[in-house]
Amino acid sequence: MARDPGNLLVTGGCGFVGSAFIRYCFQVPEFRGHLVNVDKLTEAGNPENVRGFVDSARYHFIQGDILDADLLLELCDRHAIDTLVHFAAETHVDRSIHDPEAFIETNVLGTGRLLGVLKARPKLFLHHVSTDEVFGALGAEGQFHEHSAYRPRSPYAATKAAADHLVRAYGITFGCRFCISHSCNNYGPYQLPEKLVPMVITRLLEGLPLPIYGDGLQRRDWIHVDDHARAIWLLLQHATEGESYMVGARTERTNQALISQLTELVAETSGRPLGDLRALWRHVQDRPGHDRRYAVDCSKLESELGFKPQIELGHGLRETVRWYREHSAWVEAMRSPGHTAFLEQNYGGRLDAGLPGGKD
Ligand code: DAU
Repeated sequence: MARDPGNLLVTGGCGFVGSAFIRYCFQVPEFRGHLVNVDKLTEAGNPENVRGFVDSARYHFIQGDILDADLLLELCDRHAIDTLVHFAAETHVDRSIHDPEAFIETNVLGTGRLLGVLKARPKLFLHHVSTDEVFGALGAEGQFHEHSAYRPRSPYAATKAAADHLVRAYGITFGCRFCISHSCNNYGPYQLPEKLVPMVITRLLEGLPLPIYGDGLQRRDWIHVDDHARAIWLLLQHATEGESYMVGARTERTNQALISQLTELVAETSGRPLGDLRALWRHVQDRPGHDRRYAVDCSKLESELGFKPQIELGHGLRETVRWYREHSAWVEAMRSPGHTAFLEQNYGGRLDAGLPGGKD
């Protein structure tokens, strides 16, 4: 049965995926309700990601923490919320290796608090935004699907898995209403420069060496963040309650292939010689416990809901390169000192030693 999302409470709406979802909501005519964005404004969140796109009395931004259950309850009551969309999370695998506690707090405890709100207001519907990483790593063949076993391998993935389990348990035990989506890797504008795609673009644009973990032959499935936002909107309306859906675009690439493509695009848009940019590639020590391959079978979303990604990878990457070129002030504002320190600490020697290790 189709739902008609009325008033939404979005957690983490100033982050990369959450802000894309909010921008999308205010573009679709079917969304006529109010939207309350609760974001703590950690290093990953910036109100600029939304401001200017949602010039509407129907948009309300509250700086707040999902651990604050009283605040969430009060906002749900005040704005007659019927639907929660939960993006707020710590999401960077490398950070989770260095500081797992922050991930436990936000991803597990934070989701637990949100579920407390759902339990107290049983009419609320929760869309929980999860990841394909909860299923672990694939070998050369196969894809993750909705019934794949949970096998998280990084602290980040383990906390997202714990959150998923809590959501399902609250559904079974307390009758809470929910749906879960598991997306593959996202790319697009407003992504923090510590993730692969913006890291490559921004460092190439600045002429800085870029770290390629291990042999660079790990594989990921890539979807444009606007297609992910579109999928979530569709799920809010048509997903079967209590079920989960894989979200993907069927575009699997090795990291090396993706980096090569981005390098060519940066050369094309900046006019810098391709050879000079390739000389910035550095193969460095691998990420501990690095998952070799992710790929998602999104046929349930395609066949049940008619989802079709609209942004082809080559086009989306070209536009993303253009966006980062034109938004250097945003990049500067969002550059995390933590990430710079991380690079120096882990790869400083290799990165600076001038050891180009690129294999095309
Ligand atoms: O699959 C969905 C997940 O995708 C999301 O749940 C995560 O939040 C998101 O961060 C992403 O996880 P990954 O670990 O795949 O993303 P990341 O951008 O960190 O890395 C992508 C690949 O690139 C991975 O194989 C590690 C590699 N990499 C990454 C960085 C940052 C490098 O080789 N060098 C780098 O400097």
